[in-house]
Amino acid sequence: MSKILVTGGTGYIGSHTVVELQNKGHEVIIVDNLSNSQIDVLDNIFSISGVKPEFEQFDLFDREKTLDFFRRHNEIDAIIHFAAYKAVGESVENPLMYYHNNIFSLVNILTGMIENKIDTIVFSSSCTVYGQPDELPVDENAPIKKAMSPYGNTKQISEEIITDTLHSSKLKAILLRYFNPIGAHESAKIGELPLGIPNNLVPFITQTVIGIREQLKVFGDDYKTPDGTPIRDYIHVVDLAKAHVIAVDRMLEHKNKKNLEIFNLGTGNGYSVLEVINSFEKVTGEKLNYKIVDRRPGDVTEVWADTKFANDELGWKAEKGIDEMNLSAWKWELALDAKKKTK
Ligand code: UFG
Repeated sequence: MSKILVTGGTGYIGSHTVVELQNKGHEVIIVDNLSNSQIDVLDNIFSISGVKPEFEQFDLFDREKTLDFFRRHNEIDAIIHFAAYKAVGESVENPLMYYHNNIFSLVNILTGMIENKIDTIVFSSSCTVYGQPDELPVDENAPIKKAMSPYGNTKQISEEIITDTLHSSKLKAILLRYFNPIGAHESAKIGELPLGIPNNLVPFITQTVIGIREQLKVFGDDYKTPDGTPIRDYIHVVDLAKAHVIAVDRMLEHKNKKNLEIFNLGTGNGYSVLEVINSFEKVTGEKLNYKIVDRRPGDVTEVWADTKFANDELGWKAEKGIDEMNLSAWKWELALDAKKKTK
């Protein structure tokens, strides 16, 4: 059993990862500033796993607080770093907020790791680093394209900062490039909690069907894809969470082949927006109100993962399909709705 610091551990992917770490017997300490998550997530984690994780609330971009935290917690064995802003549009509106939070936090964490001789980090990256890849499926050796947004750029810069730091220290890192995480824990006790109007497809679908939003806008049906809508590799958040546990254990058990490893985390299957909607309607029996509108600037046409390296080398494979992802997302929305009504 190891003690793992999960930054952003009350967030969407973070909370699912905390549960999977606990399931594997790891002790977890969460640092989160709750800027995009809620404190009751800790109770919900407890009601799934029977263990309440340790928790501290502060901003990781605050250097003094972060270094002080590390000095008080030299029992930490490894870090999974999720804490970051993640809205593409918002990053275009307010780039400095994104660079300040996402970059300073990482620099402070790496400084704290070196000072306290913690040498293992898993970093939450994104397939956005590939832009529109020249070849599909996209593998880990595909070229990094110029970022389409400040958010995407913070992921690219973060990967570079980690890589440079490894060259001059004993650190080892695994960078996990996620495709499109959706869905929720089967218990419907944790899931995605979008702040305000969701940017992403599936939370917008569930909120529309439940009646919070009036209509989903499908951003363009004139792409060069079979039905004209863009194609993405959607992955169940629990599958994604499990990959983090495997990645951190791989380094803690000294099974990593290099001190920097990079894995794509997707299913290898691409679905168009209309295919996602069809699957959602089929598994839930609900009807979605949607209309086709203009393209959203910055959207790539199609991207899906080559999963061979993650399958063979990490020994991880996504298990859940698109129907299961949609059904779990819907059950989560129903659970949120039921909770709202009892308040
Ligand atoms: N879409 C709609 N209507 C909506 C929301 C989304 O039609 O209301 C479409 C998009 O146009 C896209 C697909 O649904 O074709 C998926 O969109 P998401 O916003 O859910 O996901 P993205 O692929 O745009 O975003 C993902 C990650 C980001 C990352 C981005 C880079 O969630 O973190 O890829 O392109 F930055």
